Amino acid sequence: MKNITTALMYHDRTKHRHERYAASLGYMDWATQPNPFRRYDNAPLIPLTHSEHTPHYHLLFQPNSLPVAPLCIESLSQLLRYSLGLAAWKSQGGSRWALRCNASSGNLQPTECYLIAPRIEGLSPKKTLSHYAPREHALELLHTYDDTSNDGSFMVALSSIIWREAWKYGERSWRYCQLDAGHAYGAIKTSAAMLGWKCELVSVETKEIAALCGLDQLERFNSSEYESPDMLIKIATGSFPLPHTPNLLSHANTLSPSHHEWPILEIIDDATQGLYPLTVSLNSPRTIPPPTKSAGEIILKRRSAQAMDGSSITQEQFRQLLDASKFCDETSSVHFILFVHRVEGLESGLYAFVRQLDELESLKNTMEESFLWKACNNGLYVLRRGDYRAISQRISCNQEIAKEGAFSFAMLTSFASALEKYGAIGYKNLYHQCGTIGQMLYLEATSLGLSATGIGCFLDDEFHSLLGLRDQQFQSLYHFTIGRAIVDMRITTESGY
Ligand SMILES: Cc1cc2nc3c(=O)[nH]c(=O)nc-3n(C[C@H](O)[C@H](O)[C@H](O)COP(=O)(O)O)c2cc1C
Repeated sequence: MKNITTALMYHDRTKHRHERYAASLGYMDWATQPNPFRRYDNAPLIPLTHSEHTPHYHLLFQPNSLPVAPLCIESLSQLLRYSLGLAAWKSQGGSRWALRCNASSGNLQPTECYLIAPRIEGLSPKKTLSHYAPREHALELLHTYDDTSNDGSFMVALSSIIWREAWKYGERSWRYCQLDAGHAYGAIKTSAAMLGWKCELVSVETKEIAALCGLDQLERFNSSEYESPDMLIKIATGSFPLPHTPNLLSHANTLSPSHHEWPILEIIDDATQGLYPLTVSLNSPRTIPPPTKSAGEIILKRRSAQAMDGSSITQEQFRQLLDASKFCDETSSVHFILFVHRVEGLESGLYAFVRQLDELESLKNTMEESFLWKACNNGLYVLRRGDYRAISQRISCNQEIAKEGAFSFAMLTSFASALEKYGAIGYKNLYHQCGTIGQMLYLEATSLGLSATGIGCFLDDEFHSLLGLRDQQFQSLYHFTIGRAIVDMRITTESGY
């Protein structure tokens, strides 16, 4: 099957080990820090506006409770504002940086977004290709096709500028780009739900996504800052044949004056192109959460906790958080292994949340024989009782947030079967699944007055050996922590726009 060896080689080489982290510069080269905002020259900028009103968060999960918004410039504006738009500007000690609705590893924001929309008043009387400019909350018009149809559907394409993450994280950065793309997709999925819209991942060759968005016209990009196609999302009903994009006139801005080369990144990126896989859907829908604030407020308030206060959460909150992950029905290859530290009514210990019950037996057979597998309802199992605070911190590259959260967990993926079934692109898709769940859980935690943080830095095989995993049948690709944040009052916050 296609390029599996390359994926396995990259995966192993970029594991963090106690004695040796994956290769990176090891310091921040501020002189080459990439610009987080891509812009295209000669592309007309179309400002976006919408009403600030958004529905209550819990209604996003109640089928058919929200009216389906018409496809117009205001609804597109709302979709993008609450998915990939700026959530806030932060400043401290003379530096100022933007945070976005979608979380991103190191806030390096590798994900770019393109829109292929039919004729829409205020955008164009014809079908268009445009690029989303989050700083301006505007669309950069890249091409107008000779097509005036509109059947109410449109496409969103996501791509990654790998250099943005490589600048800080070196060889492991490709993994972070994929997790970030998953977060961006999760953000789009929830924002679309506010408009009564459903997102559908399209099974398409990644080279077709590149051709559609002009990413294969390499002369338009600085050679170290090319964009790799991630996924294509279809929104709303109706068929939407992919148009042919000719040579585009606009060139991308240069993000850094010079670059550090990490040849392995191009190798893994090439190996993971191909037909984007559609995985089996999770078959149990999430339960509807209790009423809370408006979805827009929750999305704009979502922040990664940089420190946690060590307090406990209720079992209802814990269960609601696990259940929320089911909203991401395209993520059936992911299970959770949880370090439960402080959940009222639940003994501390190591737990498994089996999200696809067909895999229960193979999880049991692959893991440590002495695990209890004591069922606690709804897919949750106690594996071992005990205090896992120090272990979870050590596994999370010694980050205290893993210990001081109410719980932290690993996203354990059905690794071997994804690679066997789809080839190397299955590896990429597993990261997308993990990131999608991560974005959802950030929002759910915020809706409960809690905070979360994605943890990309973890000791891969130290975690695997804790579970007694001896082969690649299951591999952990993302870790996460949830609890109550200690807010750093020295950092000033201004609104995104
Ligand atoms: C894939 C991924 C990995 C991350 N890894 C870490 C981590 O290991 N440690 C940490 O403190 N934060 C981590 N974060 C949090 C980011 O640093 C944070 O999302 C970013 O600074 C933007 O801030 P915001 O989430 O508050 O918008 C991660 C986020 C993502 C999406």
